[in-house]
Amino acid sequence: MAVLLWEHGVVTSTWVEPSNTATALLLLGRGSDPATERGVECPGDLPAPSDPDLVARATAAKAALGDRVFVLGHHYQRDEVIQFADVTGDSFKLAREAAARPQAEFIVFCGVHFMAESADILTSDAQQVVLPDLAAGCSMADMAALPQVENAWDVLTGSGLAERTVPVTYMNSSADIKGFVGRNGGVVCTSSNARRALEWAYQQGEKVLFLPDQHLGRNTAVLEMGFSLDDCVLYDPHKPHGGLTAEQLREAKMILWRGHCSVHGRFTLDSVTDVRERVPGVNVLVHPECRHEVVRAADLVGSTEYIIRTIEAAPAGSAWAVGTELNLVRRLALAHPDKRIVFLDRAVCYCSTMNRIDLPHLVWALEELVASRVVNRITVDADTAHHARVALDQMLALPGA
Ligand code: 13P
Ligand code: SF4
Repeated sequence: MAVLLWEHGVVTSTWVEPSNTATALLLLGRGSDPATERGVECPGDLPAPSDPDLVARATAAKAALGDRVFVLGHHYQRDEVIQFADVTGDSFKLAREAAARPQAEFIVFCGVHFMAESADILTSDAQQVVLPDLAAGCSMADMAALPQVENAWDVLTGSGLAERTVPVTYMNSSADIKGFVGRNGGVVCTSSNARRALEWAYQQGEKVLFLPDQHLGRNTAVLEMGFSLDDCVLYDPHKPHGGLTAEQLREAKMILWRGHCSVHGRFTLDSVTDVRERVPGVNVLVHPECRHEVVRAADLVGSTEYIIRTIEAAPAGSAWAVGTELNLVRRLALAHPDKRIVFLDRAVCYCSTMNRIDLPHLVWALEELVASRVVNRITVDADTAHHARVALDQMLALPGA
């Protein structure tokens, strides 16, 4: 891992891209089961990354497509891709933006697989959603597969608890899981509305099964809703009965799925202690996908949109250590040279799957559309889409959504 390379919004050294190490490939899950969030190899002839005309080619292809195409860019995407986004945002905002563009025949989603699925669910049948690289999955979403979740529900049913339990899934889950949640009276949430979704869920039942991010679930329940850590149990899908006794399940208010984000999970208490020593007066601002002890030690916690708003509103001269994906933190640092913005950890921390979407893949996808070929289309089957939409609509109907 390379060390952080800028401070005071000024690049202080040469940027080093992480190499395709065994760990990166593990996170990417390349070439594995196409039915999971883990991707497959891309078909087609990609332009070489060294092609000097990539920017001109993407510009020309976008111009040729005009209003027929709408390009969405998640905040964690690379700069080379973000420059072509018609709108940038978190996963929730992007899904809404896609839904608000019925005239766009093609939605090119520069993000990860579950986001493209949500866009497909929320857009009309006449619109086609394209993910420029099918290997852009999400390791967290992969941690909850439908058969595992159905098995967990059977465990709850066998313990007489399913009727009293409301499933809540983070947006960062596959369409299958959202469909399961919709079928079982639950709701989708994002990092910006998790508390409201949980409050709604506890009006419907006594317990929540929270999928797939244990940290978002625990942080929201304990730090925002006054639950104790003892109110939460961790359900491990790889262990019989989730690794829990019937009594533990009966006593728990919050059943957390054993999933996490491989990117935000890298920040530790040491990262916080270290940055407080390095940067006097620093405000530590983290995403709720970070571990509980990190969020507890931070000054502020919130979604990527909240992080951006907080930095924008911060006074000149203030110092910030931001614990979220590196592409976003770097852009914030460069956009606010009047503030001191550093990455929370000394080590590079990209989302390797988000980074799969690069300019060659974007150029390829756009040029294929110009040639009337839709590549890497993401579709969700009608039954799954129907039930997932129920859970998504329930989220949209939350007060203040
Ligand atoms: P948001 O886009 O909802 O902020 O989630 C962060 C994330 O990890 C996206 O994959
Ligand atoms: Fe998934 Fe984490 Fe990457 Fe978001 S940042 S796509 S949750 S692995």
